[in-house]
Amino acid sequence: MDYLQIQGPTKLSGSVDISGAKNAALPLIAMTLLASNEVTINNLPNVVDIKTLIKLLSNLGATATLNKCSVKIDTCCLTNTKATYDIVKTMRASILVLGPLLSRFGHCEVSLPGGCAIGQRPIDLHLKALEQMGAEISIEAGYVLAKAPNGLKGAHIVFDKITVTGTANIVMAAALAKGKTIITNAALEPEVVQLCQVLKHAGIGIDGIGSSELTIYGTDGRLVEIEPFDIIPDRIEAGTYMCAAAITNSEVTINKIRPDHLEAVSAKLEQMGFTLVVKKDSITVKPSTKLKAVDIITQEFPAFPTDMQAQFLALCTQVQGVSIIEERLFENRFMHVSELQRLGADIKLKGNSATISGKQQLVGADVMATDLRASSALVLAAMVAEGTTNVHRIYHLDRGYVELEKKLQSLGANIKRLKE
Ligand code: UD1
Repeated sequence: MDYLQIQGPTKLSGSVDISGAKNAALPLIAMTLLASNEVTINNLPNVVDIKTLIKLLSNLGATATLNKCSVKIDTCCLTNTKATYDIVKTMRASILVLGPLLSRFGHCEVSLPGGCAIGQRPIDLHLKALEQMGAEISIEAGYVLAKAPNGLKGAHIVFDKITVTGTANIVMAAALAKGKTIITNAALEPEVVQLCQVLKHAGIGIDGIGSSELTIYGTDGRLVEIEPFDIIPDRIEAGTYMCAAAITNSEVTINKIRPDHLEAVSAKLEQMGFTLVVKKDSITVKPSTKLKAVDIITQEFPAFPTDMQAQFLALCTQVQGVSIIEERLFENRFMHVSELQRLGADIKLKGNSATISGKQQLVGADVMATDLRASSALVLAAMVAEGTTNVHRIYHLDRGYVELEKKLQSLGANIKRLKE
């Protein structure tokens, strides 16, 4: 197993290019199930989660040609509609094949994803919405068995909670359904917006893109032709490098990004006292001598993202004063706190709130990554910790960050990948 060894403290400088967004790529790969042609996806992040979903499609009978930053996927000859446990258990987002498989074939079996490190993460909202569209759903032997012998029908779906993959799943199901589907309380995340835009470009009628009410006009089973497209930049990867600049109090330019997808993150850094130079597709973070504590609440887009919570928690340990971070999306998303405490951070947890007292001089230690974003928070903290930190179990990190150690090395970090 690989681990990362980081020597701190360190200063960074220079610029870094951001890769395509993993969370946009996943639904867009699942979307190829709706295509009549071979689909070319560019600016693909070369990370494990992407390879996992491509493998899932290949197991179903799709052909996929993967290059470093692009993939061609052809699902025309696909006949198998069973997404098996061995793949789904490694990546919850596999559930994204449920909507498109059901709407195209009228039946499918998808393994239940189960819980994960950050909370229960049920899929009840996905299933309820598909039932409203006429699906018959049962759970047998750990699998979701879904049938719609006469095809899915448009319906008015009102999500009780905003769900990102739930919205994506229902958009894809609705695309081939019969008639009109309205999704009220839809997710506004840029990754959902891109899915809708690509489908619209392929000829699916979709109104309200980027709003909380989407109307999708289904094709009644007709597959669509999808032109090549580029995945949007990864706003969470970008935010993580902004935090890398901030925690080391260094000047770093983050390139190839969409600053409008990062407004909540940028606003928090400015509130802390950092100066940001925002251009069309880059942000430069400038160091500051006057930093202050902030309060953060994680919420759905466009508010502060839960996927940046761990990185900001690490950052708050280096700012004078008391910061409070409230996690509103996932019930168990503070696993990184005990690891940061091992480095010397002063953090108190109560319910879904973390109180961080800064500024603490962190000291290197052995720590363990517990989930994808928690892993990057540990790397950030390690860059300001005195001495050597070994971050173990970085397979979490490899699920979602493209060549993290190489990108950080190019900025001047003393980081290397070693074998246990
Ligand atoms: C997506 C992102 C993940 C991010 C999360 C929140 C992908 C692949 N993953 O995850 O990185 O942290 O959005 O921004 O895009 N819920 C239910 N029932 C459901 C579905 C969700 O109760 O059927 C709850 C969840 O437990 C959670 C909340 O709704 O509390 C939001 O979850 P959701 O938006 O669905 O997260 P994901 O799409 O899994």
